Amino acid sequence: MGRVTEVATTISHEEILDWIRRFAADIEAQRAELVRLDTAIGDGDHGTNMDRGMHKALEKLEAAEGADIGATLKAVGMALISSVGGAAGPLYGTLFLQMGSTTTGAGTLDVAGWADALEAGVKGVQARGKAEPGDKTMVDALLPALEALRRAQAEGADPAQAARRSAAAAEEGMKATIPMEARKGRASYLGPRSIGHQDPGATSAYLLLSSAAETFASS
Ligand SMILES: Nc1ncnc2c1ncn2[C@@H]1O[C@H](COP(=O)(O)OP(=O)(O)OP(=O)(O)O)[C@@H](O)[C@H]1O
Ligand SMILES: [Mg+2]
Repeated sequence: MGRVTEVATTISHEEILDWIRRFAADIEAQRAELVRLDTAIGDGDHGTNMDRGMHKALEKLEAAEGADIGATLKAVGMALISSVGGAAGPLYGTLFLQMGSTTTGAGTLDVAGWADALEAGVKGVQARGKAEPGDKTMVDALLPALEALRRAQAEGADPAQAARRSAAAAEEGMKATIPMEARKGRASYLGPRSIGHQDPGATSAYLLLSSAAETFASS
């Protein structure tokens, strides 16, 4: 007889920490690839920017105590804003700060809470960066991920399924940036020459969602 496997219906504070750690590890592993993508249509610093910021975030989390998901996410956001210049650092910083604001005091999140947090984060990125879908930015991975997450939520998916579906949508969104012409950031200076390259920020945004899917699946 197989053992009865319990499906987790909530995401714990420890899982949020594991997600941040896994995202940092994935960024480090993909640093050269993110640099390569940003060299093609930007200034080549996206991998090093994100890697530096996530190392700072991990340092901050090592020193932190307590099990408040909101406080943890805000600490990550603050670390990114204070250690990364350029566009993506403050944008990811805003994403984490906004995710933290909606989850202040929470010790666990259900799928609805996770989706509310991601929605606040993505809205924060859009409010700050003013990017629309199709502008060839991280928004092109983040928005489909959020939409897929909301659909999964409506269908009663558990956190592991919901995160897997949002990561799959983020991957599609990331790939869909290849034929786009950039309309935001340095890549927009290239005009039509930005066509044919995958956006670096959409690629790191996919890693943000895929690291969540891997983390919530293995718990
Ligand atoms: N206004 C914006 N809104 C959302 N995302 C943006 C915006 N501008 C740039 N990005 C994202 O940031 C990524 C580049 O991040 P990077 O860490 O290289 O910062 P940067 O070199 O200062 O950026 P950029 O050259 O685009 O101004 C892009 O691939 C894109 O996804
Ligand atoms: Mg850059």
